[in-house]
Amino acid sequence: MAPQSGTPNTAIVGLQWGDEGKGKFVDVLAAEHDVVVRFNGGANAGHTIVVEGEKLALHLMPSAVLNPDCELVIANGTVIDPAILVEEIDLVESRGLSLQGRFHISSRAHVVLPWHSLLDGAAEARLSDRGEAIGTTKRGIGPAYADKIGRSMAVRMGDLVDEAYLRSHLDKIAPLRQEEMKIAGNDTHIDTDALLSDLLAHGQRLQPYITDTTWLLHDRVNDNRSLLFEGANACLLDVDHGTYPYVTSSNASALGISPGTGLPAKSLGRVVGVVKAYSTRVGGGPFPTELDNDIGDRIRDRGREYGTTTGRPRRCGWIDLVALRYAAMVCGADSLAITLLDVLSGFDELKLCTGYQTASGQTIDRFPPDARALEGCTPIYESHPGWSEEIDTCRSISDLPSACQSYLESLQRHIGIPIQFVSVGPDRRQTIRWTEPASCSRESCCFRG
Ligand code: GDP
Ligand code: IMO
Ligand code: MG
Repeated sequence: MAPQSGTPNTAIVGLQWGDEGKGKFVDVLAAEHDVVVRFNGGANAGHTIVVEGEKLALHLMPSAVLNPDCELVIANGTVIDPAILVEEIDLVESRGLSLQGRFHISSRAHVVLPWHSLLDGAAEARLSDRGEAIGTTKRGIGPAYADKIGRSMAVRMGDLVDEAYLRSHLDKIAPLRQEEMKIAGNDTHIDTDALLSDLLAHGQRLQPYITDTTWLLHDRVNDNRSLLFEGANACLLDVDHGTYPYVTSSNASALGISPGTGLPAKSLGRVVGVVKAYSTRVGGGPFPTELDNDIGDRIRDRGREYGTTTGRPRRCGWIDLVALRYAAMVCGADSLAITLLDVLSGFDELKLCTGYQTASGQTIDRFPPDARALEGCTPIYESHPGWSEEIDTCRSISDLPSACQSYLESLQRHIGIPIQFVSVGPDRRQTIRWTEPASCSRESCCFRG
């Protein structure tokens, strides 16, 4: 469906620690937008789309590939492992989907090189010995962003199609990296010629898509095309505003959109915050509402909570409204998409964390994002009755059991932002658009009118 003129640009961002179901909502909303843009992160992301039972998991390509009329952009704020991207292009094309003329990669996006993943692994091994591992995806994300900020050792996507420059640059940086890896305890030999030839082969394959996406996006805005920004990772993993140091290395909140695309903040439009009906986290770091017990196991089993990128079991817990109010504020969320609500069927009681007690016994409702401050916090819960019925076939709010409707109303009231969408299963069709007036008191509430 072509967007109506005046359709606002939209951002889809996760408000928790990732895997909220962003991919599903990008696929759903892509039908109403012209261009879908990844602005941060790399192949640490794993975004799943399910259409009529068929599943597609993507790491780098925007999750709008199944919408043939949508343009797809991987913008400058991302870090790209070219081998993974080429694999993903092959996968998409093998499904009969054409990318010609509609897929664009920023020449200024940074390249994840083999040593980035090796250094990522070595750093994690070192931290693990001290019990401080971040639990990264080992996709080289942190070291690639460190090189971007460091400037002298970086390679950008545009460099892959400039053989003379790439050869001389690699000749300079590879021996330095070899030394560094040795110091980090990794003896893997880097064959510079083989690396150069791999990168040039990938560059040749990707050349038709590599362009200046900043100009391209401004052209689209000037042509009144509507953009959909696809956040990777999530707000609580944002390097500046998340639970540092247990975060990823990019601005994974909505704040990353402007620097990650080259578009001014005023062109960003509305922000939809995607929120699981409970909480999960993969890797290390504080998680006040974590349930390391039978209830957590049951959520993991029902929600199939295993990483899309690494296959690791996700840590599971009750919904944390203290964290969500903070994340919604930082991202400027205008509305919420509540996902995986179907996973909560069959629990006698559900709990909502509405405040924390700090180590010194103080009660707080302002989220302290720094890991050390958060570690001392214990959740204060409000109890909510559960519902026994399965809800995966519900297609309107009034189909949902009354306890389930009241759970949603509690979330909305505590977070203070209207729920616009509710997801009751992984499939595109298992989506409820909540258009009825609701209990939100905000004048701008999108349920009104
Ligand atoms: P993303 O990283 O935010 O795109 O999320 P992931 O794809 O990593 O993880 C979300 C998982 O939940 C995927 O397996 C989705 O197919 C699935 N999913 C999304 N929405 C729902 C839902 O409402 N119910 C259920 N049961 N699964 C869902
Ligand atoms: P999507 O887009 C869940 C987590 C990792 C680790 C930390 C740092 O699928 O929601 P990194 O490899 O980025 O240096 O790891 O961040 N992490 C994610 N967790 N979903 C993601 O992406 C994530 N991206 C990074 O597990 O704890
Ligand atoms: Mg994911």
